[in-house]
Amino acid sequence: TVRWNLHDNEKINSKVIQEAARFLRDGMTVAFPTETVYGLGADATNEEAVGKIFEAKGRPADNPLIAHVATKEQLTDLVDNLPDSAGKLIDAFSPGPITFVLPSNGTCAKNVTAGLSTIAIRIPDHPIALQLLKEADIPVAAPSANISGKPSPTTADHVWFDLNEKISGLIDGGATGVGLESTVIDCTAEIPIILRPGGITMEQIKTVVGPVLVDLALASGNKPKAPGMKYTHYAPEAPLWLVEATVDKFQEIIDHEQKNGKKIGVMASYETASRVQADQIIQLGSRDDLSEVAINLYDALRAFKNANIDLILCEAFPEEGIGQAIMNRLQKAASSYIK
Ligand code: TXA
Ligand code: MG
Repeated sequence: TVRWNLHDNEKINSKVIQEAARFLRDGMTVAFPTETVYGLGADATNEEAVGKIFEAKGRPADNPLIAHVATKEQLTDLVDNLPDSAGKLIDAFSPGPITFVLPSNGTCAKNVTAGLSTIAIRIPDHPIALQLLKEADIPVAAPSANISGKPSPTTADHVWFDLNEKISGLIDGGATGVGLESTVIDCTAEIPIILRPGGITMEQIKTVVGPVLVDLALASGNKPKAPGMKYTHYAPEAPLWLVEATVDKFQEIIDHEQKNGKKIGVMASYETASRVQADQIIQLGSRDDLSEVAINLYDALRAFKNANIDLILCEAFPEEGIGQAIMNRLQKAASSYIK
């Protein structure tokens, strides 16, 4: 794996971007930063190249990928017709952390869409991603650049840890911004449906298109609309319990489990973390600014590796704004929810 470092560069190094773009055009895989999480890219029109993504991640073949493009024109080149709702949302939020499920016109390889008649497309809001997409001048299929089932990578080191020697290139552009993946919204129905909460909040979307539906397919037995949502996700380094309780009650649970001989890791807001005691404590940010919590969440899920932690207790957050995406990921990572 070639690792290019653009981290400390004031200006983006066009030589690196050109070389990485050549890798993509030649059918190789390249991981790159976006404003949400790192993606693992390949030429979306090249079935063999896209196959390398599934192989490197160990991703189930029935879980479709997002095609990344640099402009609205390139986006419309991949779809049959652009629904009104999608047009409005693109104008409002793209480039940005939102992915549109649209009727496919078949331009992308069939393993990108896992055989569906729809295709998920997004325009990322990150200077390295945008320049890479412009330079490559092809749609780039890119899921999050982690081993399937692990937390998405928010730093190049996360990618390196998971995928070194399994991919051709990695552009290190420093830590990502939002810290959680894009919102996935199905615009093929009359009323748009949020399939995955993410960087653009439901509240923001409603201001542009009015009512929206939310279908996270959490109910068991239902066939999820976003196929990825049915798989285990964001697996932390030890079992994780989500805890909604007062600080005193939180401490009681810690004490009780420690008496059972367990080493306890805690993930909590600054407000809670500063008032409890455990074997390892990671502060996620303030309850007054959940965007901080989003930025730190995936790194925290990976952070208990070295301390022999037996159980992670994570504070629950309000499901408002970006809190909806935070709680969606935590509920997927958790084996229990204590209320
Ligand atoms: O922020 C992001 O979206 C990141 C960065 C790299 O862009 N990418 C990302 O990709 O999170 P991935 O593959 O980890 O998640 C894509 C989600 C999956 O849940 C998948 O099932 C869903 O989008 N998806 C893809 N194509 C779809 C389609 N045609 N219909 C419904 N859901 C789709
Ligand atoms: Mg993913």
